[in-house]
Amino acid sequence: MNNSKFKIQNSKLFRAKLIAWFRRDGRDLPWRHTTDPYAIMVSEFMLQQTQVATVIPFYQRWLARLPDFATLAAAEESAVLSLWQGLGYYSRARNLHRAAREVMTRFDGTLPDDPAIIATLPGIGRYTAGAVAAFAFDRAVATIDGNIARVLARLLDLREPIDAKHGSEILWQAAEALRPRRSGRLYTSALMELGALVCTPRKPQCLICPVRAHCAATAPESLPVKRPRTKTVALDEPCAWIRDGVRVLLEQQTGPRWRGLWKLPALAKASRTAPQLELTYPFTHHRVTLRVFPQQQPRQLAAHQAWINTADLADLALTAPHRRAIERLLAAPC
Ligand code: ADE
Repeated sequence: MNNSKFKIQNSKLFRAKLIAWFRRDGRDLPWRHTTDPYAIMVSEFMLQQTQVATVIPFYQRWLARLPDFATLAAAEESAVLSLWQGLGYYSRARNLHRAAREVMTRFDGTLPDDPAIIATLPGIGRYTAGAVAAFAFDRAVATIDGNIARVLARLLDLREPIDAKHGSEILWQAAEALRPRRSGRLYTSALMELGALVCTPRKPQCLICPVRAHCAATAPESLPVKRPRTKTVALDEPCAWIRDGVRVLLEQQTGPRWRGLWKLPALAKASRTAPQLELTYPFTHHRVTLRVFPQQQPRQLAAHQAWINTADLADLALTAPHRRAIERLLAAPC
């Protein structure tokens, strides 16, 4: 395969301009003040699917409560999930927890600096391994997250879908050709920052771009190209609202999605009556409609159900949409 036309010219000058811009205009983010591999790993897990502004308070709270691999490894899953609450995509929290346990057992509490070894930990793909190696150990490895992918696709004017095999290979080859031989921390931060602040998905700021002279894009807003999306599928989620004075009946999720988190009890099917509350939320490629129906107290609780005092809800690891539903139901006049 000949991908040689996808090459950024004069990579040394490109990096020098990029880094000069980053030193001047880069944001002051909490994880840029540390090289602690644990803190960097926590930030990267949190940033995988969540925006910087949302992550900051979660990151700070997490490090205050679970400051190192040993403390996280020893923590109960419920405490871990509770700290993650509000960030969504809870498999990240479970993987981070498992990764901390593996760092303790396999590496005696010290994260190795080799991205190929870091990538053997749960929840760590090629991107996160490269990012952790760069930010924690200053390794100059090629790495591509969403921001970097967009920047590279535009620099190269790449019109192939970046989430398909061929497009992805071109991006990784370009990233490899462009990377410096040292100072991976500064370079990776700068490239990511360019995507976050200048080479944005909509309305890229090409006029102020420090590496404009190296960019081949003629219609940057149309890049990157991605494969057509799978259609959104509608899903119904009928649930029960069952009170006993100040207590409410909840159940703990047992399936793979949201395992261990608390939610309103599921109903096999919706009641024929009007729901007391209805809300919708997205879940992967689904649009879920949560309908809540008032129900009588059951004679016996199922194994995973419990009466929860409403005063304890704030500290309980609830799924975000169910917390929203419960808060609205409790606020509604009876
Ligand atoms: N997105 C993923 N990792 C990031 C980081 N370290 N800084 C800013 N945004 C990011």
